Amino acid sequence: MEFTDGVGDPKSLGLDPDDLPDGLVVADETGRVICFNKAAARITATAPRRALGRPLTEALPLEDLKGRRWWVLTDPYGGLAIRTAQPERHLLLPGNREVLVAARYVRRHPAGPLHRLVVTLRSTEARLRNERSHAELIATVAHELRSPLTSVKGFTATLLAKWERFTDDQKRLMLETVHADANRVTRLIAELLDISRIDSGRLEVRRQPVDIAGAVRRHVEAHTTAGEDPGRFVLLVSPGLPDLWADPDKIDQVLGNLLENAVRHGAGTVTIEVAPAPRPPREPGDTPSAPAPQGTEVTVSDEGPGIPEESMSRVFTRFWRGSKRGGTGLGLYIVKGIVEAHGGTISVTRAPGGGARFRFMLPVGVPAHLA
Ligand SMILES: Nc1ncnc2c1ncn2[C@@H]1O[C@H](COP(=O)(O)OP(=O)(O)OP(=O)(O)O)[C@@H](O)[C@H]1O
Ligand SMILES: [Mg+2]
Repeated sequence: MEFTDGVGDPKSLGLDPDDLPDGLVVADETGRVICFNKAAARITATAPRRALGRPLTEALPLEDLKGRRWWVLTDPYGGLAIRTAQPERHLLLPGNREVLVAARYVRRHPAGPLHRLVVTLRSTEARLRNERSHAELIATVAHELRSPLTSVKGFTATLLAKWERFTDDQKRLMLETVHADANRVTRLIAELLDISRIDSGRLEVRRQPVDIAGAVRRHVEAHTTAGEDPGRFVLLVSPGLPDLWADPDKIDQVLGNLLENAVRHGAGTVTIEVAPAPRPPREPGDTPSAPAPQGTEVTVSDEGPGIPEESMSRVFTRFWRGSKRGGTGLGLYIVKGIVEAHGGTISVTRAPGGGARFRFMLPVGVPAHLA
């Protein structure tokens, strides 16, 4: 690193090596450490003062995955004088902690002796955590797919082998189970596709004006036509709802899951409130303006057992389910993903009657050209 007139000097940018998100270790022409930033200290668990001034080989004793000493292997100060860098690769710190390392060989003249060795370090923890959660997801998905498919295979095999021996009623029962399990698989696959869109940020929101109270009414009707007691549902719609621009199919998914959960996992009366969402409290310094509602708030409460306090933070995670009666446990994860893709928020609390109370807020969402 050579700075003649301050131009390009990181200091002139107000940039300090400690501001870098990655670990930075610099060695001088003799191989002694002259820079060891905070991130490097965190990643290597070595205090900078214990590294500064020491030979790089001791201050940063890296090994490759076969246990060979990295600096001996690459020999940056000897070696080919035309080499300019080492690409990023996985190496090991003492204690077998993995770290991603890249290096740059800085020479004053092409093919001249090494002037500075600049090494960057990146922790692989976040990546490893990601990989682990992916592996877990695949294991869970395989497991979830296997049980309905096992039943489909079992029943169809039995029916094919012994068709004559069963009564029509028995055959109908088996076919109904097969039908239900096939539906489960189809639904699970649709949910997994939603999840992959949510996780990769590809969930598309096609906004149009949405009559959310009407949508709630339709969902309640669907439950009552399916045999649920109409007296179980109470719908409270406040006046003065702002216009809402949202993706109607996705809002249906949200309402569908919350109502289904209240009916299936909850008990008693299910109360759905649709109200204008209040503005967040004004921050000091905000210019005073008319208190227009900032969106729509929908609350679904029931009188069932509710969500245990200690599980409230986990209901929105993938595959979490509180009881054996649960489905796949993906519903609320998708609900949260959809609400957030609309710029909204969702939370769960305890209803005054003791059941669960889910509340989500959707901002008005008017497209810019109409606002
Ligand atoms: N209203 C409620 N009352 C009590 N428990 C609830 C309620 N809503 C959700 N839960 C609990 O939260 C868990 C997760 O809900 P979620 O909707 O994510 O999954 P699911 O309903 O089990 O399956 P899916 O919606 O994917 O078919 C449920 O299994 C249930 O234990
Ligand atoms: Mg559900």
